[in-house]
Amino acid sequence: MATAELLQQIQTGNLHKRILPQAYEAQIKPISETLNNVDINVEFDPKKHLAFTPDCLQTVKRTTMEELGAVCDDQISDIGVSAPFPLFTEEAVEIMRAEILREEVFSQWARVSFNSTTGLDCTIRGYAKPTCPFTYRAWTHPETVAAVSAMAGVELEVIMDYEVANVNVAMRSEDEAFNQKVSARRRSSLADKTDSDIPAVVGWHNDSYPFVCVLMLSDTTEMIGGETLIKTGSGEIVPAAGPAKGKATVLQGRKLTHLAALPVGYTERITTVTSYRAKDSTKPETSVLKTVKPENNFGSMYNEFYPEWISYRMKVISDRAIAIGEEFERRRSNGETFDKDAAFEKLKDLQAYLQHTWKEMEVTDEEYAAHYSKK
Ligand SMILES: [Fe+2]
Repeated sequence: MATAELLQQIQTGNLHKRILPQAYEAQIKPISETLNNVDINVEFDPKKHLAFTPDCLQTVKRTTMEELGAVCDDQISDIGVSAPFPLFTEEAVEIMRAEILREEVFSQWARVSFNSTTGLDCTIRGYAKPTCPFTYRAWTHPETVAAVSAMAGVELEVIMDYEVANVNVAMRSEDEAFNQKVSARRRSSLADKTDSDIPAVVGWHNDSYPFVCVLMLSDTTEMIGGETLIKTGSGEIVPAAGPAKGKATVLQGRKLTHLAALPVGYTERITTVTSYRAKDSTKPETSVLKTVKPENNFGSMYNEFYPEWISYRMKVISDRAIAIGEEFERRRSNGETFDKDAAFEKLKDLQAYLQHTWKEMEVTDEEYAAHYSKK
């Protein structure tokens, strides 16, 4: 069970996991200062800021679920993962960097990564709508959503505002020897293609939401590695190249077991991730809260995150309820005999989705213990 102190920490936004001002000064401020001349009071304009062109659908490799041996009943697209494609222009990326790396954003929203192996990584979640209008608009603009959807092979909708442009910042390790050691380990482990000891930003996992789009905000010229490794249905490991600055990839992360390999040689590595569901609410919606709920992720603020989770789930339920009602009305007007079994199946699915909504918010003793151990 959680102690009263732990519950209070979680409910007040895991404030004890904020990034210390000294860490901001040392790691982020120097980068932020190079962006002082970037005007962040610019409105997002797809004509100027969106770099995506429809020919990406022909020129950029997209690997199907079938090629990955991962076809399943509840996938929402035949596409599993895309190679990097241009999403935003350089100007847009600079504005996003300038907006996000401000001290007020960090001090309020940045938290230590729950699974940081170095203690130097942080995550900034939920900040976009309240503090970064350009970044928020860039991701939620219909033309951007259409571009990401086109690459994903399915019409998508951002899951909720809290999941817009989540930032992961890998801070530079002061100890260069550490990086070299990791690099050597990485080379040897990747060479033998074993899957258990690959140094990773995040170890083997499935994402919490159906689709993600990952955008790179840092210069990757000097970076070695940092690709996403995907485990295929047959257990083989397939690397998917990480995006360069301004480029993005899409991944059906809920259904594909993957790992973000730890890159080396970077001085800063800032990525943003936006999560999606199928826009058609009647398509499979298999989201879970395992890696994102406030009890398991210091960056999810209890009072902001959960209301949004409930709100999007209720939207899906209401869409589905309307669709069920319309379906049986349609069948009646087509002169069909009422199919009670079909009705039971639809209604039970709806009930299961509703039940899943609160079940996912439950926290096990093990999860509290894991949170407590990172105190
Ligand atoms: Fe992931």
